[in-house]
Amino acid sequence: MEILPTLGKVDACVTDPPYEGMAGGVQVYHPGVAKRCAVTVTVGAELGNADGLRLIESVTRFGAIVFCSFHWVDKCRAMIGGKSKALVSWYKRNSMPSVNNAPHYLTEYAWAVQYAPGIDWRKLRTHYDIPMLQAGCMAGERIVDGGKSVHPTQKPVELMERVLMPGMDTVLDPYCGLGSTGVACLRTGRRFIGIEIDEHYAAIAAKRLARAEADVRNSLPFPDPEPRPKQVTMFEAV
Ligand SMILES: C[S@@+](CC[C@H](N)C(=O)[O-])C[C@H]1O[C@@H](n2cnc3c(N)ncnc32)[C@H](O)[C@@H]1O
Repeated sequence: MEILPTLGKVDACVTDPPYEGMAGGVQVYHPGVAKRCAVTVTVGAELGNADGLRLIESVTRFGAIVFCSFHWVDKCRAMIGGKSKALVSWYKRNSMPSVNNAPHYLTEYAWAVQYAPGIDWRKLRTHYDIPMLQAGCMAGERIVDGGKSVHPTQKPVELMERVLMPGMDTVLDPYCGLGSTGVACLRTGRRFIGIEIDEHYAAIAAKRLARAEADVRNSLPFPDPEPRPKQVTMFEAV
């Protein structure tokens, strides 16, 4: 909230803020290849609050993609302003099972809104079928420490890549967590600004972004060379 007004304008805000209406949390023990392989914790307001969403229109030129759950899909829409382009659904086929007599939630949403023309929206789909990241001993992309997921809501980089559109050249994520939006941006040749309140998450995000940037540099057909030692002539060598 304090940082946003100090930024210049970005082209787009692509973010996955803390979800409202899911406070309290429950623990679900998933059976896995080993006994009690992973513990999943449903999180909500304990991760912070999404009040900063009210400010994104003032720092964003063209448009935004903002993730939310069904619990506050209407409130989130009212907070971000702009003109609706789509309500995107993310189908998480491996979502955790129902608890406490709640439905089995298999879908999350993302509002796509436009503030001004400048984004080519034609590649945005209104539905993405991408599994959630596995936790615990099944973790692949998921960042774990001592067998436990470091962040409860780390998003798949593929999902974030798929919602980045032409025209979103400089992207802001004001709730960047472990930096998944940023990794997606760097991998697709965009500039990225991330803000994260939790220092531990921010430090991991910074490392992830540095690694993603190095991977991109090394995969270029003509990688940016590290400054090479100057070749010495026969005369200089003696
Ligand atoms: C849903 S998570 C984002 C996860 C991220 N998409 C990822 O893949 O790692 C929301 C993040 O917002 C952060 N957060 C909450 N309130 C914040 C605030 N006021 N300013 C900045 N970050 C905040 C939380 O610490 C949390 O990491």
